[in-house]
Amino acid sequence: MRKALVSDAILGKFAAREVPGPHPSRPLLRKGARINEDVLSAIERYGLNVIWISDELLPDVETKEGVRIETREAARNAFRGAYEAAERWQEDKTPPKSDDGSRIMSSVRMLVADVTSNRDVLSNLSFIRAWDDYTFEHSVQVATASLLLGKQIGLDEDALHRLGIGAMLHDVGKALIPQEILRKPGRLTDEEFAVMRMHPQLGWEFLRAGFPTIMPTSSVVALQHHERLDGSGYPFGRREHEIYLFSQIVAAADVFDALRAQRAYRSDLSPAEVAATMRREAGAHLRQDLVEILLSHVALAPVGSVVQLSDGRYGMVTSVRPQAPLHPVVRVVSHDGERRLRDDEVDLAEDHLEITQLLDGWPDEVLSQAR
Ligand SMILES: [Fe+2]
Repeated sequence: MRKALVSDAILGKFAAREVPGPHPSRPLLRKGARINEDVLSAIERYGLNVIWISDELLPDVETKEGVRIETREAARNAFRGAYEAAERWQEDKTPPKSDDGSRIMSSVRMLVADVTSNRDVLSNLSFIRAWDDYTFEHSVQVATASLLLGKQIGLDEDALHRLGIGAMLHDVGKALIPQEILRKPGRLTDEEFAVMRMHPQLGWEFLRAGFPTIMPTSSVVALQHHERLDGSGYPFGRREHEIYLFSQIVAAADVFDALRAQRAYRSDLSPAEVAATMRREAGAHLRQDLVEILLSHVALAPVGSVVQLSDGRYGMVTSVRPQAPLHPVVRVVSHDGERRLRDDEVDLAEDHLEITQLLDGWPDEVLSQAR
């Protein structure tokens, strides 16, 4: 099974897991059911972004979920609420509704529960993002990665909650940046970049004014998440111990997720290159120990990912070991010449192969061979 973005592309496919709906006793879709147009529009109306589908070629590969889909959707919608509250606040100083705050709190509670109960350390973060949803998806991914870090360095549950709230809201100040700068394709001018760099301070001011019940250790994350250990960050060029722990954690998770996202959009950035870039940031910019925890605990190609290997073949990741997260076991799909599909397990560490590309699904050439 694999995760798939909710779009026309999933029509005719089969649900690999039950799809939850607004009524707990009545799921939108039962496991094994086929997705037709009515079901698709119900899923879209309910606001789901991603569901699990049975894979066309390797339906038996079992994947584990680091964070439940319903948790991620709740968190995404809660952040969207806070983001829109920030826009209204900027227009006419309308204060956020108490609902906006409680949705953030309850979705962070769900995230903390998922992250702390998950025994599978190589957590399966989502790899699928729609372009227009990037800001919302990013905040959820950063919160999840931050909580994984917080758990690994031994934070207690109360601290994890405060960290999760800060991580979720770290970029809320982007709602206060003019759209034409925020969404500008291509490079920003120096002046535009200076405006963009105001989002930490604007976000922090909004949180202090609009959500006064949020603890300062959470809201300061919005202010400090672009500060760097050597003082090269912004807005104030703070260094090392001047940067609060939660801000240091979210800074590492933020860079990591931005690189993973870039990878999702630019096929030339392989998981190995993401790891190498992260390691270059470690020390001067980001805390080395946090970078290493991320690289060993978050699989850049988790189980269920469709990948292309350095020898050109395609396959699906079937297991990942913490000692070698960049070299998982892959079930490679190939042909025996008689138009029969064969699949062989390949251990990338033993076979000296690399993953050159992560894909959202099987390429047409593979699917057409399988038919
Ligand atoms: Fe930011």
